[in-house]
Amino acid sequence: MKDPARDPRRTHARPRRQVRTVGAGTFARRMRPVARTTVTAALPYANGPLHIGHIAGAYLPADIYVRCLRARGKEVLFVCGSDEHGAAITLRALKEGVTPRAIVDKYHALMGKAFQEFGIHFDIYHRTSSDLHRATSQEFFLQLDRNGAFTEQEEQQYFDEEARQFLADRYIKGTCPNCGNPDAYGDQCEKCGTALSPKDLKEPRSTLSGSKPVLRSTKHWYLPMDRSQAWMEQWINTGMLDGVQQHDAGEWKPQVLGQCNSWLKDGLRPRAMTRDLDWGVPVPLPGADGKVLYVWLDAPIGYISATKQWAQDHASAGSASDWEKWWKSDDTRLLHFIGKDNIVFHCIIFPMLLKLHGGYILPQNVPANEFLNLEGQKLSTSRNWAVWLHEYMERWPGRQDELRYCLGSILPEFKDSEFKWKDFQEKNNSELVSIIGNFVQRVFVLCHKYYDGRVPEPVGGDESDVVLWAGLSAMPDRVAAEVDRFRFRDALANAIDVARMGNKYLSDNEPWKLERTDPARVRTILYNCLRIVGGLSVVLEPFLPFTAQRMRTMLGLGELKWEDALRADLIRPGSPLAKPEHLFKPITDAEIQPEIDRLHATRTTAPSTGTLTAPPPASKPDIGFDDFAKLNLRTGTIVAAEKIPKADKLLKLTIDIGEPMPRTVVSGIAQHYSPEQVVGQAVVLVANLAPRKMRGVESQGMVLMAEDATGRLVFVRPENGVDPGSEVR
Ligand code: MF3
Ligand code: ZN
Repeated sequence: MKDPARDPRRTHARPRRQVRTVGAGTFARRMRPVARTTVTAALPYANGPLHIGHIAGAYLPADIYVRCLRARGKEVLFVCGSDEHGAAITLRALKEGVTPRAIVDKYHALMGKAFQEFGIHFDIYHRTSSDLHRATSQEFFLQLDRNGAFTEQEEQQYFDEEARQFLADRYIKGTCPNCGNPDAYGDQCEKCGTALSPKDLKEPRSTLSGSKPVLRSTKHWYLPMDRSQAWMEQWINTGMLDGVQQHDAGEWKPQVLGQCNSWLKDGLRPRAMTRDLDWGVPVPLPGADGKVLYVWLDAPIGYISATKQWAQDHASAGSASDWEKWWKSDDTRLLHFIGKDNIVFHCIIFPMLLKLHGGYILPQNVPANEFLNLEGQKLSTSRNWAVWLHEYMERWPGRQDELRYCLGSILPEFKDSEFKWKDFQEKNNSELVSIIGNFVQRVFVLCHKYYDGRVPEPVGGDESDVVLWAGLSAMPDRVAAEVDRFRFRDALANAIDVARMGNKYLSDNEPWKLERTDPARVRTILYNCLRIVGGLSVVLEPFLPFTAQRMRTMLGLGELKWEDALRADLIRPGSPLAKPEHLFKPITDAEIQPEIDRLHATRTTAPSTGTLTAPPPASKPDIGFDDFAKLNLRTGTIVAAEKIPKADKLLKLTIDIGEPMPRTVVSGIAQHYSPEQVVGQAVVLVANLAPRKMRGVESQGMVLMAEDATGRLVFVRPENGVDPGSEVR
């Protein structure tokens, strides 16, 4: 067959970049040569701590990907940093009554530390408030301006007369024209993901003062995105740009393509790239006083300035310009790991800016994840419905891999998924403990028992060994192939299968029964098992780096590469083994229940950042009278109240409901009422709620409270004069 690339009739259409074919069968696809990979993970806003939703959305998959590439000897740079501009920061500062600088300094430090401790190891964790970033993004802006990428427009924008400020992005809220969400922001509806501009909002209101904004005239630099519609459409959907195959159609996730195409279908529109604000990167042009770069222009350039900073930090004299190969070289592959709310910015706006600037490569893929939910509800910072990473690590010290494992196995790769504490426990106990921990433990115990903690000398193998190696030898490639396709859940499942194979090999061969009759065979079996432990540590490392490290220490091995997984001489007979160690501990109900209780107890009803109106009360399905009749509601009186140590939100109440013994009730009202305020208060109690322990106190019921639109809690109380213990029905 003719090589199409050499067919003279096709020369005009031949891609400049060389195309080669890798893989086989159904997975065959063309790829351009890749000498190195630049991996970015979305720069988190430095306005609050990280929670498991952030981790599962972008950082864990990116870290797994990078670790896997590194182990395979690939050249890769992993950059991240804090996104320190934008309304997310200034609104938070306003709310806390401190400066934006104080906010970003605090959270930059907190997030950097949490990432590091959780084993998310960036080459650099930079920040967009740095001087280098300011200079980099200003230069970038000026080049765009010189290239004629902008149009300047004087136009009417919403202005808050009370706060004396123009309102863009998150400074303005209103009803989403697409889905009717009453709390859509001026830049995006978080409910349906639609990108918006303030004038799209119905019934706009200022998030600063709540007032109705007026229109005022102001000048801004716009990116006329409509001009780039044609090439953008082609590049995203076919991978072709300027006659060069950048990526293959079909490599991008369907939901990523879907979001891009829904934007494209609506028609790209001009978008302002500057703002009237005093926190941000100043617009470096005359006549632009009081204007800063739009945060979604400056933030992704943060990936570039982070790379520059890294290059400076690692420069051998004179090689500081080395950063360019990570962004400008044709044989560099650029990947952006993000959550789905960032798709349009990384797939359309930033690539457009890179192209219009010139000299930069475009992302080869943007493997965005969907959202992670928590115990049946959306994660929410404002309602404190989250598992915070730094708190997890305080309460589960040394258990990073347990969470990495659980999140890794439920990553929302193609649709939203859900974290439940009970699943966390279950996965720990029946997978980490029973499969990995158990296998390693059995092997080490036997080696210590029979060989005094030394690696035994194997003799020739038998049929079952042939089967074992045949199965195992495919595994490292299989794990890597899934990682390459951004299917981390499948990759992890394959890695765990290595431990499963080890367990099966042990149970099939039962060395503990053979030791008396055939000690030579037992030596071979256990030697093979040690090799499996070594190989397992290699394929697990991207997912469970702490555990992989402990396994290597137990084996007396140093750093390993991917190809070491199957190396026949990885384990040397006669070398010493460390004492058997339990890699994982079972998690009991008594350890898990407090996590669930805590989640409910610390949940707040505070409205989201800067909003003045609470969301409308959630509607619930109708119930029959029988359902209502199950409730035992009683009137009562609070006879004593005290704070619960170390729980800011909880009060311990003693409530008389006419029974011989008063009830003890733990109630999450401490931020609304002091103990003195509630003593003597008449209440309605749900008296047959199953008792539950919170902070070591058994709570025997629940006090009914009403919540108003501002999140204020007030007691629902019977009229004076009714006896405690009266039934409410
Ligand atoms: N800070 C943004 C967010 O949390 C993400 C910024 S990604 C970057 O949604 F590319 F702009 F840096
Ligand atoms: Zn919407």
